[in-house]
Amino acid sequence: MAQINFGGTVEEVVTREEFPLEKAREVLANETIAVIGYGVQGPGQSLNMRDNGFNVIVGQRKGKTYDKAVADGWVPGETLFEIEEALEKGTIICFLLSDAAQIELWPTVKKYLTAGKSLYFSHGFGVTYKDQTGIVPPADVDVFLVAPKGSGTSLRRLFVEGKGLNSSFAVFQNATGEARTKCIAMGIGVGSGYLFETDFYREVTSDLTGERGTLMGAIQGIFAAQYEVLRENGHSPSEAFNETVEELTQSLMPLVAENGMDWMYANCSTTAQRGALDWWKPFKEATKPVFQQLYNSVKSGEQANISITRNSQPDYREKLEVELAELRDSEMWQAGAAVRSLRPERN
Ligand SMILES: NC(=O)c1ccc[n+]([C@@H]2O[C@H](COP(=O)([O-])OP(=O)(O)OC[C@H]3O[C@@H](n4cnc5c(N)ncnc54)[C@H](OP(=O)(O)O)[C@@H]3O)[C@@H](O)[C@H]2O)c1
Repeated sequence: MAQINFGGTVEEVVTREEFPLEKAREVLANETIAVIGYGVQGPGQSLNMRDNGFNVIVGQRKGKTYDKAVADGWVPGETLFEIEEALEKGTIICFLLSDAAQIELWPTVKKYLTAGKSLYFSHGFGVTYKDQTGIVPPADVDVFLVAPKGSGTSLRRLFVEGKGLNSSFAVFQNATGEARTKCIAMGIGVGSGYLFETDFYREVTSDLTGERGTLMGAIQGIFAAQYEVLRENGHSPSEAFNETVEELTQSLMPLVAENGMDWMYANCSTTAQRGALDWWKPFKEATKPVFQQLYNSVKSGEQANISITRNSQPDYREKLEVELAELRDSEMWQAGAAVRSLRPERN
């Protein structure tokens, strides 16, 4: 493990230097890795493992997604099966159905989890909120997770480019004594660059907070608030959108990603710097109570309950479409579509 200093706290990180692909292949040489589900993570992880030389099969119900797996080179009856057949053949079961479908399919999966097999997740959700999901693995199987820090699409894209995506990993149950080694080997196999250790509870609580917070929920809320204030004060839609979103995504966030917030500030005008330095603290004070409220709601299981209840309603997809359309059709994002169409080409 490499010791890395994260702003004063030293953490251990698994790297490909100490755990090379060759070692991962050795650890998993006798395993049949069954990737159950071919949604977003399924293709990224299974294709990367296949290309890395692991023994991988896919379990997917028939339909459009199954056809996509065939198009990606999985061969029916050889490397592509119905879910139950793959569960039977697999020794490491990668449970990569949507979190709602995991609850529905759990009784089927459990039947095939015989002693010595491994159950692999990419999220701590099902196991952590077991009172609501009913997912309680048998005591004689290893249970661990590798959660790539990004979409399965990026995981595959970066792998093909010869790069990697970082992942967190955690062991929930070590029945064979080999769970941690197998877990790290899987992390390397799916194409992770560096692996950060956590546990199931911390993985799911940080993930649910992050996506409801700054990664997705809070950012839309702050965009909408600023856009409205500008519009209410007579600014045009294009001006309000440019000053709220476009400049951030096109110019400033790439600078933050490259070298941090101070670097971005340092590359802006002195007027902008002064304002940003004066105003970030009031925004922090104003929003911190909301983040605390969000975290409490995640911790109590309320957010999991909302997610499970809503996602399992039969008309979930139609209702989701209505909510997404509300965003898409809002003046701010309609203005955004127009602004996007005006991004200049260099020639
Ligand atoms: N999305 C990400 O980038 C991401 C990132 C990190 C971790 N994760 C975690 O990775 C896991 C998989 O997530 P995902 O986003 O890849 O899932 P997803 O795309 O939502 O999964 C869809 C898969 O589930 C199958 N499925 C849905 N309902 C089913 C049912 N009733 N019976 C059988 N199969 C059913 C789908 O088959 P059909 O197409 O036939 O419906 C498809 O194969 C989750 O635990 C998630 O939290 C995801």
